[in-house]
Amino acid sequence: MKDASARQNSSGKEKRIAYGREAFINELWSTLEGYPPETNGRSIYINDLRRIGKTRILEHMEDDPRPGFRVMKRDVEGINSADVFAQEVYRDTLVFMNKWRRFGGWTVKTRDACGGFGIWQLKIPEYRYLPCERLLRKTFGHLNECLAKKDERLVCIWDELPALLENIIDRHGDCLKEGVLEAARLLDTLRAVRQECSHIYMIFTGSIGMHHILNKLRRNGYKGRPLNDMEPMAPGPLVPEEGKALAARFLSKRRKLSEDMLDTCAETVSEGVGHIPYYIEGLVNTLPSDISPSSITPEKIQKILADRLANSDWDLRYFEERIPNLYGRENVFLVNKILDYLAETRNPVTEKEIVDWINRVAKKGVEASIVHELMDLLVNDHYAVKMGDPVTYSFRSSLIRRWWCMNHGLKCPLP
Ligand SMILES: Nc1ncnc2c1ncn2[C@@H]1O[C@H](COP(=O)(O)OP(=O)(O)OP(=O)(O)O)[C@@H](O)[C@H]1O
Ligand SMILES: [Mg+2]
Repeated sequence: MKDASARQNSSGKEKRIAYGREAFINELWSTLEGYPPETNGRSIYINDLRRIGKTRILEHMEDDPRPGFRVMKRDVEGINSADVFAQEVYRDTLVFMNKWRRFGGWTVKTRDACGGFGIWQLKIPEYRYLPCERLLRKTFGHLNECLAKKDERLVCIWDELPALLENIIDRHGDCLKEGVLEAARLLDTLRAVRQECSHIYMIFTGSIGMHHILNKLRRNGYKGRPLNDMEPMAPGPLVPEEGKALAARFLSKRRKLSEDMLDTCAETVSEGVGHIPYYIEGLVNTLPSDISPSSITPEKIQKILADRLANSDWDLRYFEERIPNLYGRENVFLVNKILDYLAETRNPVTEKEIVDWINRVAKKGVEASIVHELMDLLVNDHYAVKMGDPVTYSFRSSLIRRWWCMNHGLKCPLP
Protein backbone atom coordinates (compact mmCIF):
# COMPACT_ATOMS: atom_id res chain seq x y z
CA MET A 1 0.00 0.00 0.00
CA LYS A 2 1.20 3.54 -0.78
CA ASP A 3 2.32 5.77 2.06
CA ALA A 4 -0.46 8.33 2.79
CA SER A 5 2.04 11.20 2.50
CA ALA A 6 2.57 10.25 -1.14
CA ARG A 7 -1.05 11.25 -1.77
CA GLN A 8 -0.91 14.51 0.17
CA ASN A 9 0.51 17.89 -0.76
CA SER A 10 2.67 20.02 1.54
CA SER A 11 -0.45 21.43 3.27
CA GLY A 12 -1.57 17.92 4.19
CA LYS A 13 -4.43 18.01 1.66
CA GLU A 14 -5.16 15.40 -0.98
CA LYS A 15 -2.93 16.01 -4.01
CA ARG A 16 -4.81 17.47 -6.98
CA ILE A 17 -4.32 15.21 -9.95
CA ALA A 18 -4.50 16.31 -13.56
CA TYR A 19 -5.56 13.07 -15.19
CA GLY A 20 -4.30 12.51 -18.70
CA ARG A 21 -1.89 15.43 -18.51
CA GLU A 22 1.29 13.57 -17.69
CA ALA A 23 2.94 14.17 -21.06
CA PHE A 24 2.06 17.88 -21.08
CA ILE A 25 3.23 18.37 -17.51
CA ASN A 26 6.52 16.62 -18.31
CA GLU A 27 6.91 18.98 -21.23
CA LEU A 28 6.32 21.94 -18.93
CA TRP A 29 8.96 20.76 -16.46
CA SER A 30 11.43 20.00 -19.22
CA THR A 31 10.93 23.48 -20.66
CA LEU A 32 11.57 25.02 -17.25
CA GLU A 33 14.56 22.77 -16.71
CA GLY A 34 16.04 23.30 -20.16
CA TYR A 35 17.14 20.60 -22.51
CA PRO A 36 19.80 19.51 -23.05
CA PRO A 37 20.33 19.88 -19.28
CA GLU A 38 23.23 22.33 -19.46
CA THR A 39 21.12 24.91 -21.34
CA ASN A 40 19.00 27.43 -19.47
CA GLY A 41 15.37 26.63 -18.93
CA ARG A 42 12.60 28.95 -20.10
CA SER A 43 9.65 30.53 -18.41
CA ILE A 44 6.26 29.69 -19.91
CA TYR A 45 3.11 31.43 -20.99
CA ILE A 46 0.06 29.14 -21.16
CA ASN A 47 -3.06 30.27 -22.92
CA ASP A 48 -5.98 28.11 -23.96
CA LEU A 49 -9.75 27.88 -24.00
CA ARG A 50 -11.64 28.59 -20.85
CA ARG A 51 -12.28 25.44 -18.75
CA ILE A 52 -9.80 23.33 -20.68
CA GLY A 53 -7.95 22.42 -17.48
CA LYS A 54 -5.13 24.97 -17.16
CA THR A 55 -5.47 25.61 -13.45
CA ARG A 56 -5.69 21.90 -12.66
CA ILE A 57 -2.39 21.37 -14.45
CA LEU A 58 -0.79 24.11 -12.34
CA GLU A 59 -2.26 22.67 -9.15
CA HIS A 60 -0.79 19.31 -10.03
CA MET A 61 2.60 20.97 -10.55
CA GLU A 62 2.30 22.78 -7.24
CA ASP A 63 1.49 19.57 -5.39
CA ASP A 64 4.06 17.46 -7.14
CA PRO A 65 7.06 19.55 -8.22
CA ARG A 66 9.98 18.04 -10.08
CA PRO A 67 13.07 17.59 -7.84
CA GLY A 68 15.17 20.76 -7.72
CA PHE A 69 12.12 23.00 -8.16
CA ARG A 70 9.92 24.83 -5.66
CA VAL A 71 6.56 26.28 -6.63
CA MET A 72 4.80 29.42 -5.48
CA LYS A 73 1.32 29.80 -7.01
CA ARG A 74 -1.33 32.51 -6.88
CA ASP A 75 -4.50 33.35 -8.75
CA VAL A 76 -4.16 37.06 -9.52
CA GLU A 77 -7.50 37.62 -11.25
CA GLY A 78 -8.92 39.63 -8.35
CA ILE A 79 -6.05 42.13 -8.22
CA ASN A 80 -6.27 45.46 -10.04
CA SER A 81 -3.03 47.28 -9.27
CA ALA A 82 0.64 46.57 -9.84
CA ASP A 83 1.50 47.67 -6.30
CA VAL A 84 -1.01 45.29 -4.75
CA PHE A 85 0.30 42.51 -6.97
CA ALA A 86 3.85 43.22 -5.76
CA GLN A 87 2.70 43.22 -2.13
CA GLU A 88 0.90 39.92 -2.58
CA VAL A 89 3.99 38.45 -4.18
CA TYR A 90 6.07 39.73 -1.29
CA ARG A 91 3.66 38.18 1.20
CA ASP A 92 3.72 34.87 -0.68
CA THR A 93 7.49 34.97 -0.69
CA LEU A 94 7.60 35.48 3.07
CA VAL A 95 5.22 32.58 3.62
CA PHE A 96 7.25 30.47 1.23
CA MET A 97 10.51 31.37 2.98
CA ASN A 98 9.05 30.71 6.38
CA LYS A 99 8.00 27.25 5.29
CA TRP A 100 11.43 26.76 3.89
CA ARG A 101 13.15 27.49 7.18
CA ARG A 102 16.54 26.47 5.96
CA PHE A 103 16.96 30.05 4.72
CA GLY A 104 16.98 31.75 8.11
CA GLY A 105 17.95 35.41 7.97
CA TRP A 106 16.40 36.04 4.59
CA THR A 107 13.43 37.94 6.00
CA VAL A 108 15.61 40.38 7.88
CA LYS A 109 17.79 40.97 4.84
CA THR A 110 14.81 41.69 2.61
CA ARG A 111 13.19 43.82 5.26
CA ASP A 112 16.31 46.01 5.40
CA ALA A 113 16.61 46.15 1.64
CA CYS A 114 12.98 47.18 1.29
CA GLY A 115 13.27 50.03 3.73
CA GLY A 116 12.62 48.50 7.09
CA PHE A 117 9.33 46.71 6.62
CA GLY A 118 9.36 43.17 7.96
CA ILE A 119 7.05 40.25 8.28
CA TRP A 120 5.63 41.39 11.62
CA GLN A 121 4.75 44.74 10.07
CA LEU A 122 3.00 43.47 6.98
CA LYS A 123 -0.28 45.01 8.00
CA ILE A 124 0.95 48.54 8.68
CA PRO A 125 -0.49 51.03 6.19
CA GLU A 126 2.87 52.46 5.05
CA TYR A 127 3.67 49.09 3.59
CA ARG A 128 1.29 49.85 0.77
CA TYR A 129 3.49 52.63 -0.49
CA LEU A 130 6.49 50.54 -1.43
CA PRO A 131 6.66 50.92 -5.20
CA CYS A 132 5.97 47.80 -7.20
CA GLU A 133 9.13 47.75 -9.24
CA ARG A 134 11.48 48.18 -6.28
CA LEU A 135 9.66 45.66 -4.16
CA LEU A 136 9.64 42.98 -6.86
CA ARG A 137 13.27 43.44 -7.85
CA LYS A 138 14.54 43.45 -4.26
CA THR A 139 12.38 40.50 -3.25
CA PHE A 140 13.38 38.36 -6.18
CA GLY A 141 17.01 39.51 -6.05
CA HIS A 142 17.41 38.20 -2.52
CA LEU A 143 15.35 35.14 -3.16
CA ASN A 144 17.53 34.35 -6.16
CA GLU A 145 20.71 34.55 -4.06
CA CYS A 146 19.24 32.11 -1.55
CA LEU A 147 18.10 29.72 -4.26
CA ALA A 148 21.52 29.87 -5.95
CA LYS A 149 23.23 28.87 -2.70
CA LYS A 150 21.04 25.80 -2.45
CA ASP A 151 21.06 25.16 -6.17
CA GLU A 152 17.26 25.14 -6.29
CA ARG A 153 14.86 26.86 -8.64
CA LEU A 154 11.59 28.58 -7.90
CA VAL A 155 8.66 28.60 -10.30
CA CYS A 156 6.26 31.48 -9.69
CA ILE A 157 2.90 30.55 -11.17
CA TRP A 158 0.53 33.44 -11.69
CA ASP A 159 -2.82 32.18 -12.87
CA GLU A 160 -4.96 34.68 -14.85
CA LEU A 161 -2.19 37.24 -15.26
CA PRO A 162 -3.83 38.71 -18.40
CA ALA A 163 -6.94 39.41 -16.31
CA LEU A 164 -4.79 41.25 -13.77
CA LEU A 165 -3.36 43.44 -16.56
CA GLU A 166 -6.83 44.10 -17.92
CA ASN A 167 -8.00 45.06 -14.42
CA ILE A 168 -5.09 47.47 -14.09
CA ILE A 169 -5.99 49.16 -17.38
CA ASP A 170 -9.70 49.28 -16.49
CA ARG A 171 -9.02 50.75 -13.03
CA HIS A 172 -7.75 53.92 -14.66
CA GLY A 173 -11.01 54.34 -16.57
CA ASP A 174 -10.74 57.18 -19.07
CA CYS A 175 -7.05 57.73 -18.26
CA LEU A 176 -6.10 54.89 -20.59
CA LYS A 177 -2.48 56.05 -20.87
CA GLU A 178 -2.00 55.73 -17.11
CA GLY A 179 -3.41 52.21 -17.10
CA VAL A 180 -1.31 51.18 -20.06
CA LEU A 181 1.80 52.61 -18.43
CA GLU A 182 1.20 50.74 -15.20
CA ALA A 183 0.49 47.43 -16.95
CA ALA A 184 3.49 47.82 -19.28
CA ARG A 185 5.80 48.69 -16.39
CA LEU A 186 4.71 45.58 -14.53
CA LEU A 187 5.35 43.35 -17.54
CA ASP A 188 8.75 44.97 -18.09
CA THR A 189 9.67 44.52 -14.43
CA LEU A 190 8.74 40.84 -14.51
CA ARG A 191 10.82 40.41 -17.64
CA ALA A 192 13.77 42.16 -15.97
CA VAL A 193 13.42 39.85 -12.96
CA ARG A 194 13.57 36.82 -15.28
CA GLN A 195 16.70 38.19 -16.93
CA GLU A 196 18.43 39.06 -13.65
CA CYS A 197 17.46 36.02 -11.60
CA SER A 198 18.60 32.78 -13.12
CA HIS A 199 16.93 30.69 -10.40
CA ILE A 200 13.50 32.28 -10.77
CA TYR A 201 11.10 31.00 -13.41
CA MET A 202 7.60 32.16 -14.17
CA ILE A 203 4.47 30.60 -15.58
CA PHE A 204 1.67 32.95 -16.64
CA THR A 205 -1.70 31.50 -17.54
CA GLY A 206 -4.99 32.83 -18.67
CA SER A 207 -7.98 32.24 -20.84
CA ILE A 208 -7.85 35.86 -22.05
CA GLY A 209 -5.09 35.91 -24.66
CA MET A 210 -2.16 38.13 -23.78
CA HIS A 211 -2.08 39.26 -27.44
CA HIS A 212 -5.20 41.35 -26.76
CA ILE A 213 -3.52 43.10 -23.85
CA LEU A 214 -0.30 43.64 -25.81
CA ASN A 215 -2.25 45.03 -28.77
CA LYS A 216 -3.92 47.50 -26.44
CA LEU A 217 -0.54 48.50 -25.01
CA ARG A 218 0.96 48.88 -28.49
CA ARG A 219 -1.93 51.00 -29.71
CA ASN A 220 -1.00 53.34 -26.88
CA GLY A 221 2.66 53.66 -27.67
CA TYR A 222 4.24 50.68 -25.89
CA LYS A 223 7.14 49.21 -27.84
CA GLY A 224 8.33 46.39 -25.56
CA ARG A 225 8.35 42.64 -26.17
CA PRO A 226 7.75 41.54 -22.59
CA LEU A 227 7.06 37.87 -23.35
CA ASN A 228 9.68 37.15 -25.98
CA ASP A 229 11.79 35.13 -23.53
CA MET A 230 8.83 32.91 -22.58
CA GLU A 231 7.72 29.71 -24.25
CA PRO A 232 4.07 29.81 -25.39
CA MET A 233 2.28 26.54 -24.66
CA ALA A 234 -1.33 25.33 -24.86
CA PRO A 235 -2.52 22.08 -23.28
CA GLY A 236 -5.49 21.56 -25.63
CA PRO A 237 -8.02 18.85 -24.89
CA LEU A 238 -6.94 15.40 -23.68
CA VAL A 239 -5.83 12.92 -26.30
CA PRO A 240 -8.88 10.73 -27.07
CA GLU A 241 -7.52 7.67 -25.23
CA GLU A 242 -6.91 9.68 -22.05
CA GLY A 243 -10.32 11.35 -22.35
CA LYS A 244 -11.96 7.97 -22.64
CA ALA A 245 -10.03 6.66 -19.61
CA LEU A 246 -11.12 9.66 -17.55
CA ALA A 247 -14.74 9.23 -18.65
CA ALA A 248 -14.56 5.53 -17.71
CA ARG A 249 -13.18 6.50 -14.30
CA PHE A 250 -16.10 8.89 -13.66
CA LEU A 251 -18.69 6.50 -15.10
CA SER A 252 -17.55 3.53 -13.04
CA LYS A 253 -17.66 5.63 -9.87
CA ARG A 254 -21.38 6.20 -10.47
CA ARG A 255 -22.49 3.05 -12.25
CA LYS A 256 -21.83 -0.62 -12.54
CA LEU A 257 -21.68 -1.08 -16.28
CA SER A 258 -20.56 -4.15 -18.17
CA GLU A 259 -17.03 -3.84 -19.48
CA ASP A 260 -18.18 -3.48 -23.08
CA MET A 261 -20.81 -0.90 -22.23
CA LEU A 262 -18.38 1.05 -20.07
CA ASP A 263 -15.94 1.20 -22.96
CA THR A 264 -18.55 2.37 -25.49
CA CYS A 265 -20.19 4.87 -23.14
CA ALA A 266 -16.83 6.31 -22.06
CA GLU A 267 -15.92 6.85 -25.69
CA THR A 268 -19.28 8.51 -26.39
CA VAL A 269 -18.91 10.84 -23.41
CA SER A 270 -15.35 11.91 -24.18
CA GLU A 271 -15.93 12.24 -27.91
CA GLY A 272 -19.16 14.18 -27.33
CA VAL A 273 -17.50 16.89 -25.26
CA GLY A 274 -14.29 17.11 -27.26
CA HIS A 275 -12.17 15.29 -24.64
CA ILE A 276 -12.19 18.15 -22.12
CA PRO A 277 -12.10 16.90 -18.50
CA TYR A 278 -14.44 19.52 -17.07
CA TYR A 279 -17.22 18.62 -19.52
CA ILE A 280 -16.52 14.90 -19.27
CA GLU A 281 -17.16 15.11 -15.55
CA GLY A 282 -20.12 17.44 -16.08
CA LEU A 283 -21.78 15.12 -18.58
CA VAL A 284 -21.32 12.01 -16.43
CA ASN A 285 -22.72 13.87 -13.44
CA THR A 286 -25.85 14.78 -15.42
CA LEU A 287 -26.76 11.17 -16.12
CA PRO A 288 -29.94 10.74 -14.10
CA SER A 289 -29.50 8.61 -11.01
CA ASP A 290 -32.96 7.06 -11.35
CA ILE A 291 -32.30 5.07 -14.51
CA SER A 292 -30.92 1.59 -14.34
CA PRO A 293 -27.34 0.92 -15.42
CA SER A 294 -28.62 -1.13 -18.34
CA SER A 295 -30.42 1.91 -19.75
CA ILE A 296 -27.24 3.99 -19.90
CA THR A 297 -26.44 3.73 -23.56
CA PRO A 298 -24.47 5.85 -26.01
CA GLU A 299 -27.80 7.08 -27.46
CA LYS A 300 -29.00 8.17 -24.03
CA ILE A 301 -25.72 9.99 -23.44
CA GLN A 302 -25.99 11.77 -26.80
CA LYS A 303 -29.53 12.84 -25.94
CA ILE A 304 -28.48 14.22 -22.55
CA LEU A 305 -25.58 16.07 -24.15
CA ALA A 306 -27.92 17.58 -26.77
CA ASP A 307 -30.24 18.73 -23.97
CA ARG A 308 -27.40 20.36 -22.10
CA LEU A 309 -26.27 22.18 -25.22
CA ALA A 310 -29.81 23.24 -26.07
CA ASN A 311 -30.11 24.74 -22.58
CA SER A 312 -26.79 26.52 -23.05
CA ASP A 313 -25.50 24.86 -19.91
CA TRP A 314 -21.84 25.17 -19.03
CA ASP A 315 -21.96 28.84 -19.98
CA LEU A 316 -20.88 28.17 -23.56
CA ARG A 317 -22.57 31.44 -24.53
CA TYR A 318 -19.43 33.05 -23.20
CA PHE A 319 -17.69 32.12 -26.46
CA GLU A 320 -20.19 34.18 -28.42
CA GLU A 321 -20.76 36.95 -25.92
CA ARG A 322 -17.12 37.95 -25.74
CA ILE A 323 -16.82 38.51 -29.50
CA PRO A 324 -17.67 42.27 -29.47
CA ASN A 325 -15.21 42.82 -26.67
CA LEU A 326 -12.40 40.88 -28.34
CA TYR A 327 -12.84 41.92 -31.95
CA GLY A 328 -14.75 45.20 -31.77
CA ARG A 329 -18.45 45.80 -32.52
CA GLU A 330 -17.66 46.57 -36.13
CA ASN A 331 -16.36 43.02 -36.66
CA VAL A 332 -19.12 41.06 -34.91
CA PHE A 333 -21.00 40.28 -38.11
CA LEU A 334 -17.88 39.11 -39.91
CA VAL A 335 -16.61 36.96 -37.04
CA ASN A 336 -20.02 35.35 -36.67
CA LYS A 337 -20.11 34.55 -40.36
CA ILE A 338 -16.60 33.10 -40.33
CA LEU A 339 -17.42 30.89 -37.35
CA ASP A 340 -20.73 29.82 -38.96
CA TYR A 341 -18.81 28.73 -42.03
CA LEU A 342 -16.13 26.85 -40.07
CA ALA A 343 -18.77 25.22 -37.88
CA GLU A 344 -20.92 23.82 -40.66
CA THR A 345 -18.24 22.93 -43.19
CA ARG A 346 -17.05 19.36 -42.95
CA ASN A 347 -13.50 19.87 -44.26
CA PRO A 348 -10.90 22.53 -43.41
CA VAL A 349 -11.21 25.62 -45.60
CA THR A 350 -8.77 28.13 -47.09
CA GLU A 351 -8.88 31.85 -46.43
CA LYS A 352 -10.01 32.43 -50.01
CA GLU A 353 -12.94 30.05 -49.54
CA ILE A 354 -13.92 31.97 -46.40
CA VAL A 355 -13.79 35.32 -48.22
CA ASP A 356 -15.76 33.97 -51.21
CA TRP A 357 -18.39 32.45 -48.97
CA ILE A 358 -18.89 35.63 -46.96
CA ASN A 359 -19.18 37.65 -50.15
CA ARG A 360 -21.82 35.24 -51.36
CA VAL A 361 -23.97 35.16 -48.23
CA ALA A 362 -23.48 38.78 -47.19
CA LYS A 363 -23.85 39.99 -50.76
CA LYS A 364 -21.17 42.61 -50.25
CA GLY A 365 -17.45 42.80 -50.77
CA VAL A 366 -15.33 42.01 -47.77
CA GLU A 367 -11.66 42.85 -47.73
CA ALA A 368 -9.41 39.80 -47.72
CA SER A 369 -6.93 41.61 -45.45
CA ILE A 370 -9.56 42.04 -42.73
CA VAL A 371 -10.46 38.36 -42.90
CA HIS A 372 -6.74 37.56 -42.70
CA GLU A 373 -6.35 39.65 -39.55
CA LEU A 374 -9.43 38.12 -37.97
CA MET A 375 -8.29 34.59 -38.78
CA ASP A 376 -5.03 35.24 -36.93
CA LEU A 377 -6.98 36.41 -33.91
CA LEU A 378 -9.44 33.51 -34.09
CA VAL A 379 -6.50 31.10 -34.10
CA ASN A 380 -4.82 32.87 -31.17
CA ASP A 381 -8.10 32.78 -29.27
CA HIS A 382 -8.47 29.06 -29.99
CA TYR A 383 -11.70 29.28 -31.95
CA ALA A 384 -9.93 27.99 -35.04
CA VAL A 385 -6.92 25.85 -35.89
CA LYS A 386 -4.62 26.61 -38.76
CA MET A 387 -2.93 23.79 -40.63
CA GLY A 388 -0.86 22.74 -43.57
CA ASP A 389 0.29 24.06 -46.89
CA PRO A 390 -1.86 25.51 -48.42
CA VAL A 391 -3.05 26.95 -45.15
CA THR A 392 -6.51 25.81 -44.09
CA TYR A 393 -8.67 26.50 -41.06
CA SER A 394 -11.17 24.51 -39.07
CA PHE A 395 -13.16 24.90 -35.85
CA ARG A 396 -11.01 23.97 -32.87
CA SER A 397 -13.30 22.57 -30.18
CA SER A 398 -15.90 20.03 -31.24
CA LEU A 399 -18.04 20.89 -28.20
CA ILE A 400 -18.13 24.60 -28.91
CA ARG A 401 -18.75 23.78 -32.57
CA ARG A 402 -21.79 21.66 -31.68
CA TRP A 403 -23.10 24.40 -29.43
CA TRP A 404 -22.44 27.04 -32.08
CA CYS A 405 -24.35 25.07 -34.72
CA MET A 406 -27.27 24.48 -32.38
CA ASN A 407 -27.42 28.11 -31.33
CA HIS A 408 -27.18 29.43 -34.89
CA GLY A 409 -29.60 26.92 -36.40
CA LEU A 410 -26.89 25.26 -38.50
CA LYS A 411 -26.57 21.63 -39.42
CA CYS A 412 -23.55 20.25 -37.57
CA PRO A 413 -21.51 17.78 -39.61
CA LEU A 414 -20.17 16.07 -36.47
CA PRO A 415 -21.49 12.57 -35.85
N1 LIG B 1 -6.82 16.73 -15.96
C1 LIG B 1 -7.91 16.77 -15.17
N2 LIG B 1 -8.24 15.72 -14.42
C2 LIG B 1 -9.37 15.77 -13.66
N3 LIG B 1 -10.19 16.81 -13.58
C3 LIG B 1 -9.87 17.90 -14.29
C4 LIG B 1 -8.71 17.95 -15.12
N4 LIG B 1 -8.66 19.14 -15.72
C5 LIG B 1 -9.73 19.82 -15.29
N5 LIG B 1 -10.46 19.09 -14.43
C6 LIG B 1 -11.73 19.50 -13.80
O1 LIG B 1 -12.25 20.60 -14.53
C7 LIG B 1 -12.35 21.75 -13.68
C8 LIG B 1 -11.97 22.97 -14.50
O2 LIG B 1 -10.60 22.90 -14.81
P1 LIG B 1 -9.64 24.16 -14.63
O3 LIG B 1 -10.13 25.04 -13.52
O4 LIG B 1 -8.27 23.66 -14.53
O5 LIG B 1 -9.87 24.87 -16.02
P2 LIG B 1 -9.25 26.24 -16.51
O6 LIG B 1 -8.72 26.01 -17.88
O7 LIG B 1 -8.30 26.77 -15.51
O8 LIG B 1 -10.57 27.13 -16.57
P3 LIG B 1 -10.69 28.74 -16.54
O9 LIG B 1 -10.21 29.20 -17.89
O10 LIG B 1 -12.14 28.97 -16.35
O11 LIG B 1 -9.82 29.25 -15.44
C9 LIG B 1 -11.43 21.47 -12.50
O12 LIG B 1 -11.89 22.10 -11.34
C10 LIG B 1 -11.53 19.97 -12.37
O13 LIG B 1 -12.70 19.60 -11.65
MG1 LIG C 1 -8.23 28.54 -14.44
